[in-house]
Amino acid sequence: MNIKTGTPVAGDPIANNLDAFWMPFTANRAFKRDPRMVARAEDMHYFTPDGRPILDGTAGLWCCNAGHTRAPIVEAIREEAGRLDYAPSFQFGHPRAFELAARLAALAPTGLDHVFFANSGSEAVDTALKIALAYHRVRGEGSRARLIGRERGYHGVGFGGISVGGILANRRHFGTLLAGVDHLPATYDRTRQAFTRGEPEWGAHFADHLEGLVGLHGADTIAAVIVEPMAGSTGVLPPPKGYLERLRAICDRHGILLIFDEVITGFGRLGHAIAAERYGVTPDLITFAKGATSGAVPLGGIIARDSVYQAFMHGPEHTIELFHGYTYSAHPLAVAAGLATLDVYRDEDLFARAGTLETAWADAAMALRDIPIVEDIRTIGLVAGIDLARLDDTPGKRGFSTMDRAFREEGVMIRSTADTIALSPPLTISEAQIDELFGKVRRVLETA
Ligand SMILES: Cc1ncc(COP(=O)(O)O)c(C=O)c1O
Repeated sequence: MNIKTGTPVAGDPIANNLDAFWMPFTANRAFKRDPRMVARAEDMHYFTPDGRPILDGTAGLWCCNAGHTRAPIVEAIREEAGRLDYAPSFQFGHPRAFELAARLAALAPTGLDHVFFANSGSEAVDTALKIALAYHRVRGEGSRARLIGRERGYHGVGFGGISVGGILANRRHFGTLLAGVDHLPATYDRTRQAFTRGEPEWGAHFADHLEGLVGLHGADTIAAVIVEPMAGSTGVLPPPKGYLERLRAICDRHGILLIFDEVITGFGRLGHAIAAERYGVTPDLITFAKGATSGAVPLGGIIARDSVYQAFMHGPEHTIELFHGYTYSAHPLAVAAGLATLDVYRDEDLFARAGTLETAWADAAMALRDIPIVEDIRTIGLVAGIDLARLDDTPGKRGFSTMDRAFREEGVMIRSTADTIALSPPLTISEAQIDELFGKVRRVLETA
């Protein structure tokens, strides 16, 4: 087929015409040689173009928390598309955007009352970092220009996000990045934490490195610290017990803003609306995306502490307080999807469900421990990370082939980052499907 005109061309089947799409975070050549295509989705399954069901072990990309093509969400998007296709959020507004902001703020801890909308996790992160920098500036503490991230952190792909992020491959090709960024150490040490369910007992002291950075740079140069409460994309690293509390205390001591990147942990993944609730630790800014619409329409954003918002609300009333925003901030379709998704989460009590299933999930995951190539397993909420022994001493080769074979041979979508398998199904998964999922993963790993 001629992909520009749609005209069939003899001897040129569509499967050989995949070149135009430069796919993100994908081994393009391998994919295009032998694609893993999905064409339809429903509840816990994707379906390939020829109708083969694929059990979704990853909620798409950690986002379809309510399951796929849920009727109330689909209907809300359909209706809104016919009512309000687009509305600018610069100097104008539409009522549902304010309703969604209020409902999202109600999910956050007391005192986090203001939502700024973006379209993705990466934009949410850059929004949070910019607000943190500007917050100190508008309060007359402009020397606080330094941002602190963490090794093995993933905060999307904007320049801000990769600067505070701690994954080498995501940083190495992109020059000097943001100036004045530093990093805390990662919280993982296999020798002390292997095969832990939930939060490891050991490792709270990793937070104390923040005191070291304050000593090195001076608190008056540090604007904010950003961490994922549970590092997801780097391979599922739950926070050690007490770690987040310690970070909060050190930030308070030194006037540093604490940002939780909850793009993955938000919307029920850890058994609560957000991870801040699970840990009883209140950050100053929370980023969200993914589960906000159960993946149905791109939507991200931040929830800010009232004192952060109020710091900007000065000067003549006709002036813009924050020079930041996106054409599609609070896009009507995203907002409609967000409201309908929150209804589904509420009506089906899905935030609590990951907590209810956590033990059965962890039991099923840890049962893979006897497989010779499995080096570590970590579980928390409805998330599991499984570290595999390298194949041929080549990083990522085993992870890739496991993901590929799982799709082709077992009909299951799993995610691999390097040689770690990450599982994070829709929160609607049944106990029988948990067993089915790990049964499929076992068969792939046993024949690896
Ligand atoms: C913690 C975290 N922050 C930010 C992002 C980036 O989100 P997006 O891909 O929507 O830009 C991700 C994506 O996985 C994430 O896990």
